[in-house]
Amino acid sequence: MSRRDHLAQLREAAPVILPSLLLCDFANLEREVERLLAAGVKALHLDVMDGIFVPNISYGMPIVAAFRKLTDLPLDVHLMIEKPQDYIRQFHEAGADVMTIHAEAVDDVASILREIKSLGAGAGVAINPDTPLETIVDALPEADLALMMSVNAGFGGQKFNPVALDKIREVRRLAPDLLIEIDGGVNLDTIGRCTEAGADLLVVGSAIFGKPDYVTAVRELNSAAAAAS
Ligand code: DX5
Ligand code: ZN
Repeated sequence: MSRRDHLAQLREAAPVILPSLLLCDFANLEREVERLLAAGVKALHLDVMDGIFVPNISYGMPIVAAFRKLTDLPLDVHLMIEKPQDYIRQFHEAGADVMTIHAEAVDDVASILREIKSLGAGAGVAINPDTPLETIVDALPEADLALMMSVNAGFGGQKFNPVALDKIREVRRLAPDLLIEIDGGVNLDTIGRCTEAGADLLVVGSAIFGKPDYVTAVRELNSAAAAAS
């Protein structure tokens, strides 16, 4: 299956919960992947941070490559980095199926989305809560996915900012077929509002990894998401 075919599958399965592995146990990635597979997750969300675009550093290509070795699940790589265009080829070679760049980090969103697609990967564009949707409207026709951040990119465990919900409704109106993702503070209390607004992909960090049992956490999140979609 081509990497972009994964997008079509995710669209079919929407709403889909994507665990963000920022807060996982990095001392035992294999076990974490097994636990997530047992919980029935359909894709993994990997957060790359460079300490420049965001005031935090997470991991880069070697960890993406490690997940690639451990699973065939689609890898959705969220690039919170300056100059993402300089690294997309390496992340793709490491195993990224979808790469999402931040509009705030680049001058020409559309051309980088085209580059990502030319590699055969899915191309996403993200905006932080303070960035107006207008910034990316012209680039949306080049995007496979639009990520509306509901926290400022950089850290897990922050409070949900509902500004993302209005943007999701507007993106849905402007681009009915685009995959829409939301990321930050998505938990049992907020997930229903996300699917109700039209989000297809729901990134969840602490509301999974802060729980002792991923199977229960994902099941409860799934039913709250489906009930409102
Ligand atoms: C934040 C990351 C998120 C983060 C989500 O910048 O993009 O993916 O891990 O974590 P929670 O769900 O705890 O807000
Ligand atoms: Zn993320």
